[in-house]
Amino acid sequence: MNARKPVVLIAEELSPATTQALGPDVETRSVDGADREALLAALPGADAVLIRSATHMDAEAIAAGRDLKVIARAGVGLDNVDVPAATAAGVMVVNAPTSNIISAAELTCGHILSLARHIPAANASLKGGEWKRSAFTGTELYEKTLGVIGLGRIGALVAARMKAFGMNVVAYDPYVTAARAGQLGVTLASLDELLERADVVTIHMPKTPETVGMLGAEQFARMKSSAVVVNVARGGLVDEADLAEALATGQIAGAGIDVFASEPSTDLPFFSHPGAVVTPHLGASTAEAQEKAGVAVAKSVRLALAGELVPDA
Ligand code: MLT
Repeated sequence: MNARKPVVLIAEELSPATTQALGPDVETRSVDGADREALLAALPGADAVLIRSATHMDAEAIAAGRDLKVIARAGVGLDNVDVPAATAAGVMVVNAPTSNIISAAELTCGHILSLARHIPAANASLKGGEWKRSAFTGTELYEKTLGVIGLGRIGALVAARMKAFGMNVVAYDPYVTAARAGQLGVTLASLDELLERADVVTIHMPKTPETVGMLGAEQFARMKSSAVVVNVARGGLVDEADLAEALATGQIAGAGIDVFASEPSTDLPFFSHPGAVVTPHLGASTAEAQEKAGVAVAKSVRLALAGELVPDA
């Protein structure tokens, strides 16, 4: 009798390279991980589950996956996985921490340029049959100050790219030394100082109980009224109600937001503000990032299912 092939449940759309990298020795099944009932029904019998950000592998889902040996997140963070619950259940958790850092950094730069030059609004206006030039007068980034909150892998890539535009970069990151910042051509500052100096504030922090709401009313009150804020990191780092208020009252001028406290979110109060540019969690959505993430986690899943050591990515 043939031995049963391990079952890998693919709970979100992943690149075709992912299934190729999983190889022929596993059986793949698919489910829409955002559909909670379907997910809970599909988990029993799965040895591994592959997810992105829309599937919540919380304690209930982990308990439903009674055959699970590994949860693999094709992306950077692990905030939609209850890691302690997985560990308690003996389930390994793997991710692909560098797979999409370039894509996330590039989207951040796209938001910064969109805000400075009103590209999305001008595009919508022209396609709507209008020819308005003065309405979309922008600002140069040259010699303006970029404030980077979190000078980790993605923050450092954003800093390097925006320095090419001639921006001065200040960063807040209690874990980065002045020497490392110096290598990157960045000046370290306290959070308050950064908020007061920056023309553009971009946040690149993981989502933890300490960082949720890290940019809220108190922080917007410190910013210049001409400043804009960008969040391509995690939903909830920027308080959405406070952001709506800060934009409505002119406390700040604009916001480029890719991630939301609850996803999908298609109708938040600040969406209608002319200074808001929003995208539906696209930071990692490039062919390259999806291929890197999918292949990296597929390799880790194969190793984990074979009972081999999974090296840190
Ligand atoms: C990540 O954590 O890398 C991304 O948010 C993954 C995704 O886009 O689903």
